[in-house]
Amino acid sequence: MGGRRVVAAAVLTRFRDLRLFTPPGVFAPRSDAGVLLDAALPRLRGDVLDLCSGSGVLALAAAPHAASVLAVDMSRMAAGTIRVNSLLNRRRVEVRRGDLFAAVGSRRFDVILTNPPYVPTPPGAEPPSAPRRGRAARADATSSTASAPTPMPTCAPAARC
Ligand SMILES: C[S@@+](CC[C@H](N)C(=O)[O-])C[C@H]1O[C@@H](n2cnc3c(N)ncnc32)[C@H](O)[C@@H]1O
Repeated sequence: MGGRRVVAAAVLTRFRDLRLFTPPGVFAPRSDAGVLLDAALPRLRGDVLDLCSGSGVLALAAAPHAASVLAVDMSRMAAGTIRVNSLLNRRRVEVRRGDLFAAVGSRRFDVILTNPPYVPTPPGAEPPSAPRRGRAARADATSSTASAPTPMPTCAPAARC
C-alpha cells in the first residue's frame, strides 16, 4: 500500500503550472527546460514545433502562446506520455513519434524548440552510445546516432548551435 504511494509520487511531477506524468524511461524535466522556456516565451507565436519533447513539457508550456504545437519524440513511451499530459493539463498538442524532422514532413513552423539529448563530446570524437532498450535506456541518453538521417547537436539547451 505504502509502496504504491511512492510509485505514484515518482511519476507525477510539477513544472510551473503544469502537472506532468513522467513514467520510468521518460525524461522528467529539469531546470534546463525552464531556462529554455524563459528564453523562448517572448518569441512564441504561430505554429510551434517541439523536437525531442520527452514529457511534452515545452510543448505544453508553449501551447497557450501558440496557434498550434506539434511535439515530436522518437520514443513510443514519450509520445504516449505527451498525449496523457496534454489531457491532464487540458492543453492541445499534436504528437508524432519519429526521428527529428523526419516526423514533420513538409510542415513549416514559426518557432522550433528543442532540448535534445546532449552529452559533451570532444571535437572529432564519436558520440557516446546508449542502450536502446530497458530501463537503462534513459531518455536523455538515447539519441539518433548511426542510423539517423540528421546528426544530433552536442550542445547545451538554449545555446546557439
Ligand atoms: C533531454 S530529453 C528532453 C525532454 C524535454 N524536451 C525536456 O526538456 O524535458 C531528450 C528527448 O529526446 C528524445 N529523442 C532522442 N533522440 C531523438 C530523435 N532522434 N528524434 C526525436 N526525439 C529524440 C528522447 O526520447 C527524449 O525524450
